[in-house]
Formats: sequence, C-alpha cells, structure tokens
Amino acid sequence: MKKIAVFSSGGDAPGMNACIRAVVRTGIKSGIEVMGIIRGYEGMIEGDFVEMDSHSVSNIIQNGGTILKTARSQAFRTPEGRKLAYDQLKSHGIDGVVAIGGDGTFSGASVFMHEYNIPFVGVPGTIDNDLYGTDFTIGYDTAINTAMSAIDNIKDTANAHNRVFFVEVMGRDSGFIALRSGIATGAEAVLIPESPTYIDKLVEQLNKNYADKKRASIIVVAEGDESGGAFKIAEEVKKRNAVYDTKITVLGHIQRGGRPTCMDRVLASRLGMEAVKALMDGVSGVMIGQIHNNISYTPFEKATKHHITVNPLLIDMVNILA
Ligand code: F6P
Repeated sequence: MKKIAVFSSGGDAPGMNACIRAVVRTGIKSGIEVMGIIRGYEGMIEGDFVEMDSHSVSNIIQNGGTILKTARSQAFRTPEGRKLAYDQLKSHGIDGVVAIGGDGTFSGASVFMHEYNIPFVGVPGTIDNDLYGTDFTIGYDTAINTAMSAIDNIKDTANAHNRVFFVEVMGRDSGFIALRSGIATGAEAVLIPESPTYIDKLVEQLNKNYADKKRASIIVVAEGDESGGAFKIAEEVKKRNAVYDTKITVLGHIQRGGRPTCMDRVLASRLGMEAVKALMDGVSGVMIGQIHNNISYTPFEKATKHHITVNPLLIDMVNILA
C-alpha cells in the first residue's frame, strides 16, 4: 500500500473533518501518500483529486462540514460512471480507498468492489446512526445534542403558552435522532418509522394530559415517520380535537452542521486511524465500526440500514417516562 485516497460522501456529518485528518496523518506517519477526492464519487469520476499533507488537515478537527466536500452521485450508480471512477483511481496510482459516509456510500462501494479490484474500507459518517456494525456513527452525537438544545428552547415557550409543539427532526428512514432527543427532553411522544404511529392513540394521550391540567406538550417526529411528518400529524390532531394550540418546528439542516462534540471527534479520529491500519493489513469491503469500545469490521452489504433496529427499550422509556 503506497498511495491511498480518502473522500466523504452523502450527507455531511460533524466529525468528518476529524476523520479525514486521522486518515491523512496515520497514512503519512506510516509512509503512505494520501490523496483527497473532492465531492465524493462525483469527484472520483471527474478526477478531482488533491494531494494531502499533514498541514492540509491542520486546524480542522473542531469544524463541522467536510473540507473534501460531499455529494450524492447519480453517475456512480451507472456502470459507465463506475468505469470512469476506476480509470481515475488507476491513473492516480491509488492502491486503496477510505470512504466516509453512510448507506448510499457503502452500497456504491459494494457494487464497485464486485466489478473492480481496488480495496475499499468504509467509515460510518452520518447523523442518522442508521448503520449496522457500530454503536454510533460519526455525527450522530453532535446532531442529537443540537436537537436536544433546540427542543429545550421550544419547551420553554411551549410551557409559557400551553401549546402542543410538533418538532420534526432529521432521519429519512430512521428514528434514532428522534428517539434520543425525545428521551433527553422528556417529550410526551416520539413518532418514528420503526414503530407504527396511531394518531387516535396520540390524541387520547393528549386528551388525558389535558384533563390532568397538563396543557403543554412536545411531540418529536422523525421526518421519515410513515404518518407524513410534523405538519401532517399536527393537522390530523387538530382535526380530532380543535382545543389544542398546535405549533410546528422543523429543525432541518441545523442538525447537520456545527462543531462536533468531543464524542464525535474522538470516534472519528479512532475510526480514521483504524481504517488506514485495516487497508495496510489487506482488509477490504468492510465498514470499520466501534462496538462496546472495540473495533469491528462489518461487510458493506451488512452495514447498510436494512439490518439495523432500534432498541425497543428506548421506545418503552418514552412511554413510561412521559
Ligand atoms: O444525512 C442524512 C440526512 O440528514 C437525512 O436525515 C435527511 O433525510 C437527508 O440527509 C437530507 O439530505 P439532503 O441534505 O441532501 O436533502
């Protein structure tokens, strides 16, 4: 392994920079040249490669976003796009690749590896935490803390006005952000795609609270909840009982940016180092994760979100403690 490339792909996540820094510095200290690929698979196809040295990753560990930029590539989904990507990797003399991203990134890497013989390892970077084979993904801890402090603020005003707030958090197909931020803020309910949402039951619970003189409520809704997001659910609740003064807040991309937490910086640094070590050891086709503080390797096909489940105990917690 003489020369490796690193790129970030899919939705950015706080901590990606810390991971890039770790890959570059571990590579250089192991006598390996490191190139960065700009804008993920798009840049790979277009040949947007830059040489990285120790200084190129100075003073970035504390920043959100990604210095290598990111993209969701349609072209890489096509055999022609992947052929161009392979040609670029070959012409730049790349012997191994570190891909930092989520589900789409690893699905792409998996298809590529069946077609071409260039080692790839993955590092889980997504705020959604929806990958199997790691306790936490890079960016998740920052995102849940951002969501938590935003919901804390909303709670103040919800209580002051006796309002029912529907707060929509990110998570296209998963409720991890909703569940943790909901538990941490004492939400009255958390609606997530992994468990069925019954509007009538929710209204029944609100009615009961209302009768008990508890007038302010926080309902955290994952954007991917099957009942259609915060606006739709608020409308349905209002239809069933007009007494509620409902308000909707969509937190949106505020959850994707910001300074990574200590947890995310350390996790990203560790996984970045381990990714380079894995390539040097001849490992390929796996996501490098951390389970119970130990490093784990999970094949790309298994890491993708179809295998991950939420802990039902956390769902119970919301219901018992609300
Ligand atoms: O990166 C994951 C995620 O933040 C999802 O939670 C969300 O649905 C999606 O990305 C939004 O992506 P984009 O910024 O491309 O619209």
